[in-house]
Amino acid sequence: MLHCNKNHLVVLTVALLTASVAYAGDSPSEINQRIGNGDPVAGRDKSALCQGCHGEDGNSVAPTFPKLAGQWSDYIQKQVREFQNGARYNETMSDVAASVDNFKDLFDIAAYFASQKQMEGTPIAASEEQNLYLEGEKLFTQGNERTGAFRCVKCHGEYGKGQPLNNNLFPVIGGQHKEYLVKQLTDFKTEERENDRSGMMLRITTRLTDHDIEALATYLSREPPALVPAVASAPMPAPTLPLAPVVISESYKILMEDRPVLIEGTNFGIGAAKLKKTANVQLDGVVEFATTQPDRYWK
Ligand code: HEC
Ligand code: HEC
Repeated sequence: MLHCNKNHLVVLTVALLTASVAYAGDSPSEINQRIGNGDPVAGRDKSALCQGCHGEDGNSVAPTFPKLAGQWSDYIQKQVREFQNGARYNETMSDVAASVDNFKDLFDIAAYFASQKQMEGTPIAASEEQNLYLEGEKLFTQGNERTGAFRCVKCHGEYGKGQPLNNNLFPVIGGQHKEYLVKQLTDFKTEERENDRSGMMLRITTRLTDHDIEALATYLSREPPALVPAVASAPMPAPTLPLAPVVISESYKILMEDRPVLIEGTNFGIGAAKLKKTANVQLDGVVEFATTQPDRYWK
């Protein structure tokens, strides 16, 4: 009974602490899950020192100080403990970590930052960033088959906002500072930072060039297009698919002959030579399939 009330209290306090719910990741149940076993209200006072660098609400101003707002408390605790025991080292942070000398304080401090409205990126700064953003988005969501770069989204969730279920040691990285992200990815790659379990991030970053890192950090530190009106309202580029199946099959000829694809339904508008959108969707499926079969079908 007492337990039940306490849980209610936590949810309520969290609702009060977070000014507005802007992200899917900020629903009360998700915030509650992020908080873990600490007390966010006690953590607010206990984290006064931390707030000096990481920001009052966990959104630091200096781009070399990571944002902690809406980060998983388990991940925050792990990092602080590792700064303490030397598994992760940073001149500034390692000294400060030593000042947190008991678990209860660490749980509460971590819970406080975890309870905050999740970190958000800044708008795309200059037009030249748009291409970098798109490159980064592609790498993040699809990886790169040629270099063997693995898809980040698998572990870090959509937009790097973390996985809602049971993956609380995969940090939230979407909305983080660009400079900080570049530094961490580079640190993993050069083995300056080695506290990732089984070298997960080392294996991933060795497949990334400096340019890839720049692109990924741009993507992760900028607002998703849906939140950037200028980008969101730009017209979608016209599909580059050719008009008729005959032309399409030129590159995928062997594929089509080998495995004929039946596109059902009426795919042309009345009196029009242009394929309907619904047909494009199906053709996209064909194209996607073909690109996964480079050895067999690709010329
Ligand atoms: C003087 C500035 C400063 C203060 C005060 C400070 N930090 Fe940090 N913190 C840093 C810097 C700089 C880093 C980034 C280290 C790096 O580049 O690897 C960092 C990193 C971290 C990280 C890792 C974040 C991540 O995304 O991996 C955590 C967690 C953290 N700090 C928690 C705390 C807590 C808790 C306190 C208070 C007890 C605190 N910090 C106080 C400067 C500070
Ligand atoms: C197999 C799972 C996995 C994949 C795939 C993965 N990561 Fe990670 N990543 C992790 C884990 C686990 C950590 C936390 C390491 C630790 O405990 O310190 C991490 C940490 C990070 C950090 C440091 C976060 C911080 O706050 O300091 C960044 C940045 C990052 N990953 C970016 C990426 C990018 C970019 C990709 C894709 C190129 C990627 N990750 C792919 C598992 C993964």
